[in-house]
Amino acid sequence: MPSVLIIGASRGIGLGFARDYAADGWEVHATTRDIGDAGDLGDVAGNVSLYPLEVRDPDQIADLAAAFEGRGIDLLIHNAGVLRGVGRDEMMAINADAPFDVVGALLPAVERGEGRTVAILTSQMGARNGGGTPSGDYGASKCALNDRFRETEPEWRARGITAVVFHPGWVATDMGGRGAPVSVDESVSGMRRTIAGLAPDDSGKFLTWKGTEHPW
Ligand SMILES: NC(=O)c1ccc[n+]([C@@H]2O[C@H](COP(=O)([O-])OP(=O)(O)OC[C@H]3O[C@@H](n4cnc5c(N)ncnc54)[C@H](OP(=O)(O)O)[C@@H]3O)[C@@H](O)[C@H]2O)c1
Repeated sequence: MPSVLIIGASRGIGLGFARDYAADGWEVHATTRDIGDAGDLGDVAGNVSLYPLEVRDPDQIADLAAAFEGRGIDLLIHNAGVLRGVGRDEMMAINADAPFDVVGALLPAVERGEGRTVAILTSQMGARNGGGTPSGDYGASKCALNDRFRETEPEWRARGITAVVFHPGWVATDMGGRGAPVSVDESVSGMRRTIAGLAPDDSGKFLTWKGTEHPW
């Protein structure tokens, strides 16, 4: 079965990805900051392996990459992100810098996989057009993520990897709030369907959970 590595799977959308890929029989590798208390992630049934990862910790990123030495990953999903409770510098480090540190370290494993796909969770709040101008530190951090993705993705594409960024919708999680209109199941199944249909020509796109293109 194919394999997926989900970065930030302790709750919300990341947990939804872990549950659904595991239910479909995928080999699921999932990271959490608190591996000693994995909570709902620890209860996900199927072929699931857990790894500790604070995305700002270079040693833990190196350890994760080392765990995949000589092995392939078909799909890498960088989901971890933060909306509140941290200062601007930390938000930039988590939302805008860490995805490139993590994906960069894991890229050799993605190259060894058959699926050769990377998906990074961004937000419409980081779009300059459509969906509102970047607002606050969160919007600025996702805008920086989008800009850096557009700079970096051609290097990944040249290595045979298809990479996209997703706006997952306004989703009912701790971050989105329980009153958000899109459920985790709807968001995750929409992104999974879209990922399954990606072709190399789709690399570099900003997509929504419905599979449509989002303006930058
Ligand atoms: N929900 C929405 O409406 C919405 C809309 C647009 C974009 N997004 C994006 O979608 C992604 C997932 O959002 P969500 O709604 O599922 O959020 P969530 O419920 O708040 O979950 C966030 C996840 O990211 C992890 N995380 C946060 N900071 C981390 C760090 N420094 N190192 C490692 N893991 C870290 C959290 O781990 P802990 O449990 O350890 O904190 C948790 O697993 C995020 O990138 C978010 O920006 C969400």
